Amino acid sequence: MADNETEQTNTVDLVVEGCRLPVNMAGTDEWPLAEILSRKDVDRAAPEFYVHYIDYNKRLDEWVTLDRLNLDKLQMPKKDKTPVKDGRSSRASTPERDMVNGGLLPGLSRNKSNAGRKRKLPLGEGSEDLAQDSPAPTPPPPTNNNSTPGAVVNSNSNSNSNPPHQPRQTGSMVLDKSHDDIVTRMKNVNMIELGRYRIRPWYFSPYPVELTILPVIYLCEFCLKYMKSRKCLDRHKEKCGLRHPPGNEIYRKGTISFFEIDGRKNKNYSQNLCLLAKLFLDHKTLYYDTDPFLFYVMTEFDNRGYHIVGYFSKEKESTEDYNVACILTLPPYQRKGYGKLLIEFSYVLSHFEGKTGSPEKPLSDLGLLSYRSYWSQAVLETILKLQSPDEGAERPLITINEICETTSIRKEDVISTLQYLNLINYYKGQYIVTLSQDVIDAHNKSMLKRKIRIDPKCLHWNPKDWSKRGKW
Ligand code: ACO
Ligand code: ZN
Repeated sequence: MADNETEQTNTVDLVVEGCRLPVNMAGTDEWPLAEILSRKDVDRAAPEFYVHYIDYNKRLDEWVTLDRLNLDKLQMPKKDKTPVKDGRSSRASTPERDMVNGGLLPGLSRNKSNAGRKRKLPLGEGSEDLAQDSPAPTPPPPTNNNSTPGAVVNSNSNSNSNPPHQPRQTGSMVLDKSHDDIVTRMKNVNMIELGRYRIRPWYFSPYPVELTILPVIYLCEFCLKYMKSRKCLDRHKEKCGLRHPPGNEIYRKGTISFFEIDGRKNKNYSQNLCLLAKLFLDHKTLYYDTDPFLFYVMTEFDNRGYHIVGYFSKEKESTEDYNVACILTLPPYQRKGYGKLLIEFSYVLSHFEGKTGSPEKPLSDLGLLSYRSYWSQAVLETILKLQSPDEGAERPLITINEICETTSIRKEDVISTLQYLNLINYYKGQYIVTLSQDVIDAHNKSMLKRKIRIDPKCLHWNPKDWSKRGKW
């Protein structure tokens, strides 16, 4: 064996869990720094490495072969690292962990700056329509506006900074760091088949081990039961008979419906939904007690039935007035406006309840992008709908509280949105909102993309006061 080959072999042996080195990211010509999370030596001559790209979201983690490692820049695990009690190595940072209310994330800014490269970095990806290809993911839109004074809307409310939100510690999906070990840090399901789609999962989900070793897990798209083979699925379909989610259809307009599912009455379905959702939600951990939750499943109808597009869960009683616990659009349907439709629906429910609401924190990177965009559109839509008051009065007037009442968006979120859009100015002793023509034009343009909207007239639903019920 030549000397340099021996040297290479020795270096390869040094590549163990916790090492860092540049790795060629799938489908790109980029070599970001990555951490080795695991190593497989099934074939001694061709080891494989599970890598996490530092500063990128965990959903991009992947198994790579030796040729994609830059061994010249290998950094050994730091010896002085504080040992972690369950024996895992250093925790590479992910955007969710670094999340703060209202801030953009390292992973996202990087994705943004990479726009236009050979392959767009997958903020969300991994699904395949069995009939047609799903569109390639595209980078995030520009996020900031520089406002110049123009049309003015007065506000009598002071601007506050957001109060810190504590994540809820109970529920169908809770933050649970004890599960964040080496096993749950790695994707365990290779592929799922759901209706006409094959979808590649983004994160760990605790499906039974005997299924996770298979190349594909087959799900009944209506009851979400998971099975080991197509044959089992076909047999199941004959018995299942469902063509829509369980629960009550509380909304229908065109082909879009929403079903309300009680986590206590439909426990199997709710647990299966949580298992499925966990494949795409990193920062929450499954909790099998679904009783305290309602699940709102959005479907699209065709001649084969009501196909699940996405859902959100909501606590029956939320002390913090959260109106969404977890929200998900399934990957084949993402980036088509369904996320905003789900969010809009959650606020329409809050409106019927006569409340304002807010999503449970922390938000994921994509959750924050979607909420920011939804809040911006809802707040600007409300302000721009204002009629000018009587002649003589120059500017239409609205208070922050009135914006909250109209949109059902919680006050802190309205204020943070106005700040994020850079619209709040201090003028003659009060805060005023200044809208430039550029902001108005950008808003009008972005609203053209909102092709489907929730029509509150199509909602047939009466809010329940769960605190008055003996049992959920
Ligand atoms: N890259 C860049 N921007 C994106 C991406 C992406 N991959 N995905 C969504 N966006 C932006 C869109 O551009 C859009 O903004 P715009 O209209 O201003 O351009 C906005 O987010 C919403 O887009 P939609 O198409 O309406 O949303 P989508 O159907 O893709 O669903 C969701 C968004 C639900 C967050 C989806 O990405 C998802 O399910 N992600 C995985 C689970 C998750 O992270 N859920 C949120 C967790 S936080 C919580 O549960 C409270
Ligand atoms: Zn079924």
